[in-house]
Amino acid sequence: MTAQIIDGKAFSAKVRGQVAEHVTRLKADHGLTPGLAVVLVGEDPASQVYVRSKGKQTIEAGMASFEHKLDASTSEADLLALIDQLNTDPAVHGILVQLPLPDHLDEALVINSIAPEKDVDGFHISNVGLLATGQKSMVPCTPLGCLMLLRDQLGNLSGLNAVVIGRSNIVGKPMAQLLLRDSCTVTIAHSRTKDLAAVVRGADIVVAAVGRPEFVPGDWLKPGATVIDVGINRLDAPEKGEGKTRLVGDVDFASASEVAGAITPVPGGVGPMTIACLLANTVTACCRANG
Ligand code: GUN
Repeated sequence: MTAQIIDGKAFSAKVRGQVAEHVTRLKADHGLTPGLAVVLVGEDPASQVYVRSKGKQTIEAGMASFEHKLDASTSEADLLALIDQLNTDPAVHGILVQLPLPDHLDEALVINSIAPEKDVDGFHISNVGLLATGQKSMVPCTPLGCLMLLRDQLGNLSGLNAVVIGRSNIVGKPMAQLLLRDSCTVTIAHSRTKDLAAVVRGADIVVAAVGRPEFVPGDWLKPGATVIDVGINRLDAPEKGEGKTRLVGDVDFASASEVAGAITPVPGGVGPMTIACLLANTVTACCRANG
């Protein structure tokens, strides 16, 4: 079997187009411009790339982008003061503090200082609890993007066996909650799971979010399974020239695409969906803030 390739780039462009249309209507009908504030502390190169991309796509969607770049040595008190100011700024509907934070800053304290209704990452403890209890919340962007791809691919997910590999707060746990909400039978696997191959073999849906390059081989998969690869790992690629690298996912794409029914590529699968969902969450936050 040769798997269908799930085109996250094309799907995310469609979502961003819908967001832009919604923004146009909000401006024309209600005089509202959704605004997203992104806070970056320090100079982590990968975070800088993400933040630049978020700002660019926010503006392209017709929204207001507020970037706050702080020195790596910024004190917790100064960061909390900035968040406090953004919490009360009526032009800011969404706040995102880029993770990871420098070690001297308490990540949980910082995230939980964001007003829950502006927490477009869905990481605030209130949003985590609301999602877990099936109530209206902000939903984390990467798992939301994965769910949109799965629904588009499979339609109704009810009754399907889903295995999420990885138990992070950002992806694995919220992904499991979303699949459960769609009536999947959900297993969360992780580094201590026994006989992971056998667990994965029972899955109609596999979401890989372990952060280990090409960790899931094709022969673990059930034939016809739908595979969502959240991993973004950079490997040396001397064949492309000295110092060159290539991006790979958490799934061994070559062997998996021989067995799966459908699979997301890396890059061009889940990655572009994350920012599209961030923009969608910002519009949602703006609408909720204005009744
Ligand atoms: N760092 C890596 N992924 C994310 C994300 O989804 N949100 C934030 N705030 N930081 C991240």
